[in-house]
Amino acid sequence: SAADKGGWSSFMAKEVSEEPDAVANTVRGRIRDGIVAIPELDGLDELFAGINRIIIIACGTAAYAGMVGKYAIEQWARVPADVELAHEFRYRDPVIGPDTLVVSISQSGETMDTLMAVKYARERGAKTLSICNTQGATIPRESDAIVYTHAGPEVAVASTKAFVAQVTAQYLLALHIAHIRGTLSDTEIAQQVLELEEVPEKISRILSDEQAHIEQFAKWMADTRSVLFLGRHVGYPIALEGALKLKEISYIHAEGFAAGELKHGPIALIEPGQPVFVLVPSPSHSPLLHSKVISNIQEIRARGARIIAVAEEGDAAVLPYADEVLRIPFAGPLFEPILAVVPLHIFAMGLSTAKGLDVDQPRNLAKSVTVE
Ligand code: G6P
Repeated sequence: SAADKGGWSSFMAKEVSEEPDAVANTVRGRIRDGIVAIPELDGLDELFAGINRIIIIACGTAAYAGMVGKYAIEQWARVPADVELAHEFRYRDPVIGPDTLVVSISQSGETMDTLMAVKYARERGAKTLSICNTQGATIPRESDAIVYTHAGPEVAVASTKAFVAQVTAQYLLALHIAHIRGTLSDTEIAQQVLELEEVPEKISRILSDEQAHIEQFAKWMADTRSVLFLGRHVGYPIALEGALKLKEISYIHAEGFAAGELKHGPIALIEPGQPVFVLVPSPSHSPLLHSKVISNIQEIRARGARIIAVAEEGDAAVLPYADEVLRIPFAGPLFEPILAVVPLHIFAMGLSTAKGLDVDQPRNLAKSVTVE
C-alpha cells in the first residue's frame, strides 16, 4: 500500500532514499576504538588465519557487489579472491577445500542457486560465510559464519539499498581479516574506517544535489533503445550493475563493459547518437587510470557516442568531452563505487518511470528466486 511506501511513489524510490542508512546501519556496532571489530565473528580468528583463498558466490546484483568486494579483500587482506556466479560454481568441479572460504552474498538469503552452491562448498570441506540481509534466512543458517547487512527490508524486485550494504559488509569483512592477518596497521585500518563512515553523508549529498537533475535527464532519454556502460577497476562492476538495473526495470537493451576491453570488441557497437555512461575514476587517486578513461571517452566520442560521465566533483577534464556530467563527491579509491552506483540507480528508476512502467514489479522477474 501507499502507506508502506512512506509517501514515496514506489518502493524502489523509498529504498534508494534509504541507501545512506543502509550503509550507516551496516557499519554501526562494528567499529571498536576506530578499528573494525565484527562481534558476530568473535572467536573465528583461526578460521580467517587458516584460509588461503576466498571465493565469493552470488547471483544478480549481489554478484556485482561481490566483484567490488574482491578488490577490497585482495588489497587490504591480501587473500586471493575470486567471484563466481553461484549456478556456475556448482557445476564445474571447483578446486576447494578446508583452506577455502566461500563467501555467499544474498539479500534474501533464499536464492536457490546460491543456497545449493553454499551446501556444495560445505560438502567439499570449505568454510562458508554468509553476507545476508534477512535475519534467520536459509543461507545464513547453512553457513559457518554470518555478517548481516542492515539495509532493512527490500521490497522492490530490483535491488538497490541492499547492494550498497553488501559492498559495505565486504569492506568491513576485508578490514576485519586484514586486522587478524596483520596485512594493514591499525592506523591504516582506522583511515579506511573514517572513509567508510563518511559514505552515508556523501550518498545523501548525491540524492539532494543530483537526483532531480538525473530524473529530468532520464525523461529526455525515455525513447532510447540501447545504453552502454563503461568502467575500469571498481568502476567495472558498477558499469555491469548500471546496465542490469536498466534491463530489469526499463526493458532497455543495456550492456556494461570494462573500458579497456572497448578496442577488443565493443567499440564496434558505437554509432552516432549511442548513449554511453562512463564511470570516470578520480584523477587524484590514479592519474594514469583517469587519463586512460579520458582517452576511452575521446575514442568513442570521435565515433559519435553521446557521453554521460559519472565523475568526481571538480574533475574538469571530462567537461570538453561529456554531453552530460553526473557528479559524485570525492572519496578514497575503493569508496567511489558505493557513490557512483547511486546515480545509476536513480537513472534506471527515472527512465522506468518516464516509460510508465511498474518500477517495483518488472515483468518476468521475482524478488527471490527459490527454484533452480
Ligand atoms: C533475483 C532478483 C535480483 C537479485 C537476485 C539475487 O534475480 O530479481 O534483484 O539481485 O535475485 O537475489 P539475492 O536475494 O540472493 O540477493
